[in-house]
Amino acid sequence: MRGEESLTGDAVHKPLLEVLEGRRQAAPPVWLMRQAGRYLPEYRAVRTTVGGVLDLCFTPKLAAEVTLQPVRRFGFDAAILFSDILVIPHALGRNVRFESGEGPRLDPLSDPQAIDDLPDRVEQTVLAPVYDTIGLVKRELPPDVAFLGFCGAPWTVATYMIAGCGTPDQAPARLFAYRHPEAFARLIEILVDASVDYLVRQLEAGVDAVQIFDTWAGVLPPDEFRRWCIAPVRRIVAEVRKAVPGAKIIGFPRGGGTKLVRYAEDVPVDAIGLDWMVSMHFARERIQRVRPVQGNLDPLVLRAGGAALDRAVDAILEGLADGPFIFNLGHGILPDTPIEHVERMLERVRRA
Ligand code: CP3
Repeated sequence: MRGEESLTGDAVHKPLLEVLEGRRQAAPPVWLMRQAGRYLPEYRAVRTTVGGVLDLCFTPKLAAEVTLQPVRRFGFDAAILFSDILVIPHALGRNVRFESGEGPRLDPLSDPQAIDDLPDRVEQTVLAPVYDTIGLVKRELPPDVAFLGFCGAPWTVATYMIAGCGTPDQAPARLFAYRHPEAFARLIEILVDASVDYLVRQLEAGVDAVQIFDTWAGVLPPDEFRRWCIAPVRRIVAEVRKAVPGAKIIGFPRGGGTKLVRYAEDVPVDAIGLDWMVSMHFARERIQRVRPVQGNLDPLVLRAGGAALDRAVDAILEGLADGPFIFNLGHGILPDTPIEHVERMLERVRRA
């Protein structure tokens, strides 16, 4: 049974943390990005009791409950803290709302003056409930399950702050960065400092590792990728480890393509999350030789299920499971994913 303390008092291993130390596991540890969410009836039941996503993030009892739900149901090897990357703009005083079915809405930052007017530091009292959630989850989590905290990478958070909503190619933030590089650099600096503070507090509250989600890394050309993705995340990693020596960190620069080689070399994270668009050969030869990897099932094939799902799972195991590897999706699980498909996938990964 999962979750029993060792009677001899031996330290219980967390397979996911072993991989972050560079040690391959016989059966790869598995979790799913956005594993707490609308595809679960138990999540939807909790969700109807609160007004918005941010209310759920800031209600520790409920946030802890939805964090634990997918671990209870599927026995995943990691729980990921229920919060959102946009709590940081919220704690910087921006108005953040989630409109049902339409994604996030923020008041956009339309000119350099708006960035000058931002505070230098986040309001930590606003974020205190998130750290309380960590304490509640810790008490309930089986000892072999890793607990992950997270933040959005500065570039990705900035794209939402500039545009005020999700966009297909982040044109507003790219334009802003070309037109006003100094103001944009200041925004990124504010987000680096906020992210360091936020991740350090999560680690101090008890998460075992953290993931930095750079969902929109892929839209940048190489020079901008180095400036707005690699450099800021590198600084976050260094600063977090200054405060918490040995802090374990996963980077997820979605859509990085061939630029991932540079990311893997320059950003000393403990693992790199791969999206579903990278080839197995590239992932194994160019990335996994440098760092442990996590990924990278197409969320759509998990939704489709059947023989296509089996084939896709097998191809990933064949490509990556000979080295240090964490099985995951290549991006978040889709709300209309059937639960039986998740079960089918897990069965296949675990019999590997
Ligand atoms: O289970 C988990 O992974 C933990 C919780 C988590 C949420 N958001 C809760 C959430 C995590 C890790 C995130 C990260 C996040 N949030 C990212 C990076 C990863 C990614 O998926 O790209 C981004 C870009 C956001 C911003 C965000 N939050 C968007 C674009 C949306 C709307 C899209 C949607 O699915 O509706 C959210 C809302 C949100 N955050 C939901 C959840 C479970 C869904 C809203 C709901 O319950 O109604």
